[in-house]
Amino acid sequence: MTRRSSHRPRPLKLGVLVSGRGSNLGAILDEIRRGRLRAEVAVVISDKPDAPALQLARTRGCATLVLDPKSYPTREQFDGAVAGALKQHGVELVVLAGYLRIITPALIEPFRHRIMNIHPALLPSFPGLKAQWQAVEAGVKLAGCTVHFVTEEVDRGPIVIQAAIPVRPGEREASLARRVLRQEHRIVPRAIELYAQGRVRVTGRTVTIRGLRAPKDTALINPPLMG
Ligand code: GRF
Repeated sequence: MTRRSSHRPRPLKLGVLVSGRGSNLGAILDEIRRGRLRAEVAVVISDKPDAPALQLARTRGCATLVLDPKSYPTREQFDGAVAGALKQHGVELVVLAGYLRIITPALIEPFRHRIMNIHPALLPSFPGLKAQWQAVEAGVKLAGCTVHFVTEEVDRGPIVIQAAIPVRPGEREASLARRVLRQEHRIVPRAIELYAQGRVRVTGRTVTIRGLRAPKDTALINPPLMG
């Protein structure tokens, strides 16, 4: 899939799916407000009526919608309703920002390579729940987060962008989660911006970004070589 035009006539329309706190939604809205992300949040959809993210969305003037999975006989029917609502709002890119549901083809198909998820680990390591805890348990020295496109294989879709940080000696899950979250807030808006600029192409498992300077060959080494 290729998005060619890098000069969009209007801001990219986002649909953000949430279940909880909403700090990534906040980061997206902040970047839009600062004029650094040419997008608009067309709708915020939550599967939980009491998600703090909903309150944040309302405060920031976003359209919101609560869809209750219990009102639908199957997961597919629920996801079909979510897809319908996203289409109704003219959504071009869907962002799963702390959305605590595994989504089915009823939502994936109509938005193929147009759904991004943020995962708090360096995928494909530590997929699934409690990723930061998994990282601490595994004793890794580098941790991080990943924005990827959503496919039928949970947490295995094409990777758009990752951020890596060193794990501190003796660091526990809560501290690592906090520091990883700060990086999530940087890479989520960046992934959306690259997409909005039409620079993102997916070929099989690989995402290529048009017009990037080659990253510097700087290794993040932990523990450091000196000291
Ligand atoms: C983040 O850690 C994200 O990686 C995971 O769920 C959490 C959502 O946080 N998918 P928030 O609701 O955006 O604050």
